[in-house]
Amino acid sequence: MTFIVQANSYKPGEGSFTVTKSTRKDALETAVGLLGQGMTGVTIMGDGRTYTTPEFAEILKDIEEGVKRVKNIVSDLRSFSHPNTDMMEEVKVAEVAATALRFLGNELKDRVQIHQQISEDLMIEANKNKMTQVFVNLLQNASDAMKTKPYANETPAISIEGRIEDGRTVVAIRDNGPGIDPANVDKIFDPFFTTRDVGEGMGLGLSICYRIVEECGGRINVRTEPGRFAEFLLVFPRKT
Ligand SMILES: Nc1ncnc2c1ncn2[C@@H]1O[C@H](COP(=O)(O)OP(=O)(O)OP(=O)(O)O)[C@@H](O)[C@H]1O
Ligand SMILES: [Mg+2]
Repeated sequence: MTFIVQANSYKPGEGSFTVTKSTRKDALETAVGLLGQGMTGVTIMGDGRTYTTPEFAEILKDIEEGVKRVKNIVSDLRSFSHPNTDMMEEVKVAEVAATALRFLGNELKDRVQIHQQISEDLMIEANKNKMTQVFVNLLQNASDAMKTKPYANETPAISIEGRIEDGRTVVAIRDNGPGIDPANVDKIFDPFFTTRDVGEGMGLGLSICYRIVEECGGRINVRTEPGRFAEFLLVFPRKT
């Protein structure tokens, strides 16, 4: 089999050139390499098909994003395993949300729309790793619950909003999933309370969130309407 890779030089007026490869993989590697060097109009012909630049550009973008994601995860993991695990510090809410979303990237990707509205300067006094755990638990719960709702005329969506109210920092994590049965609302923060199947949930996520938020002097509340939404509100004390 012969594959012909064609590309235009990145220097204007230098024209195009052609390389021949004998496997699809070699041709693709060559094409991606040429794109990486700034060549344009890269085309592969062979296999009875013609592949053109936009398709490679997509592949390149995916690779680049993948590398970025891995970099971020490694740096998140590093700070997660930092020895100073109990340290309280000024933490950027937007950063905690971004880290938590990265942890759940694959879980939510393509399935749930995320709306974020947190101003960059919104800060709380907290332990960063523990607060990340709170966000991860809440987002994971939302994601799990949403899997049980048959979305008919709605798009599955989670919103994360951060704002100042009466001098207090309020973060609201809301999903348009099935909501919580009124009979259970008072129990969900209890350790080992779960509505999930045996072996699926320990019922510990929210009790851990409750304790962590309390350690920062904050409170966690829930508002819900069955069939419509569940919203977890984190309220952090007024700064003195
Ligand atoms: N966003 C949500 N929408 C609907 N129900 C929720 C939501 N978040 C929590 N719940 C309810 O609260 C219960 C307790 O949540 P919690 O996070 O403590 O435990 P879990 O998710 O069941 O298990 P674990 O977190 O230990 O894996 C859940 O089983 C579920 O019934
Ligand atoms: Mg949970």
